[in-house]
Amino acid sequence: MHIGARLQLDTSELHDLFYMLFLKDLGCSSNAARICQLYATNDHDFKRNSKTMDHSLGQILHFVATNTAVKSGLATKLKTILNIARNSGSITRDLIETRCERGAEIARTMRFPERVAQGILDLDEHWDGRGHPLGRKETDISLMARIALLAQVIDVFHITGGRQAAINEVHRRAGTWFDPQLVSVFEALARDLSFWAVLEGADIEAQVFALEPAAHRSFVDDDLLDDIADGFAQVVDAKSPFTSGHSKRVALYSDMIAEELGMEANRKRWLVRGALLHDIGKLGISNEILDKAGKLDEEEWQAMRNHPVLGQHILSRIDAFSGIATIAMNHHEKLNGKGYPNGIGADELDLETRIVTVADIFDALSADRPYRAAMPTSKALSIMREEVGTALDVDCFDALATAIGRLENAKETSDDVQAPMQAIG
Ligand SMILES: [Fe+2]
Ligand SMILES: [Fe+2]
Repeated sequence: MHIGARLQLDTSELHDLFYMLFLKDLGCSSNAARICQLYATNDHDFKRNSKTMDHSLGQILHFVATNTAVKSGLATKLKTILNIARNSGSITRDLIETRCERGAEIARTMRFPERVAQGILDLDEHWDGRGHPLGRKETDISLMARIALLAQVIDVFHITGGRQAAINEVHRRAGTWFDPQLVSVFEALARDLSFWAVLEGADIEAQVFALEPAAHRSFVDDDLLDDIADGFAQVVDAKSPFTSGHSKRVALYSDMIAEELGMEANRKRWLVRGALLHDIGKLGISNEILDKAGKLDEEEWQAMRNHPVLGQHILSRIDAFSGIATIAMNHHEKLNGKGYPNGIGADELDLETRIVTVADIFDALSADRPYRAAMPTSKALSIMREEVGTALDVDCFDALATAIGRLENAKETSDDVQAPMQAIG
């Protein structure tokens, strides 16, 4: 934002830059699973470490050797290294393409201006045309993206090596990765000691929010809140092939249950947002754990059980969504107190949470998974029936069974409803 201000961007450009910087990694979750598969490592560590290299051959080899398959045996490690060595270029291009396109699309879902989407799309393009995914060059690259690319490299080197390391790295990549004009703006900025003091200060969050161009603050109505919930549900669902479409389906089932129970329209709208965002805490869990084929070890299981807490933490920070933070926190609790993370029981579980819990389990059982075909809905319901009363709410379960039964009957008697049936899998 300081670079943007020194370039004398107008307030509308600064507004878009501010949000583009926050949202630049929106599409990141969508290649997290592939990073884990290809490099057999933890996606969080990988992303942190990969920003400190510039892809010269020596660095790639060093990077692969230290990052690949940290926990796996030598054979797996060698196989992964060979695969990366053979396909390095196309793998990098694929990863970046998925990430940028997905991210831009989600920003559009959330109704951010096109300039924000374009910035996300161009984030990995380099000044000399050797970036990805399109190999755009110089000023063909969105200005927002040029600033963001520079800023993220400054940040990573500053955090890991200090002020001078950041300055040196930026200087080294001027004209290859970075727009030389932006580099000189940064070099002037870097002589201002208060710039670094803010970056290293404890109240950086408050300082960052103070940079938001206030004149462009926009009013958020209910439709926009729905779109924002929908956008972040896409981010969550894109993280793992095991949960593709999960949040959207849980929202659909929750809506059906609430409809059956006669819930009032406005309350239902909140419920659907809660259902869309119930697993948002999974963004904080590595794919190495989320996608693990075998049994989780104790440490992994503990991390997994923490996703409701992370979800609650994220949602309660946003005023408009704080009301649904309880759903995120409690969706794995059971009526008999045998759920997680807190083991609370029936008297502390509200109707919204009970509905999402039933919808969540139904989807976990009935959805197609990479490792098995979809279970028939009747079988999923009969497995769930055994837990009704002890773990699951009887009214919510009955409402779901009725709604599903009605849809199945309709499917048998009419071809017209085939589309909605496909939609719910
Ligand atoms: Fe969950
Ligand atoms: Fe879930």
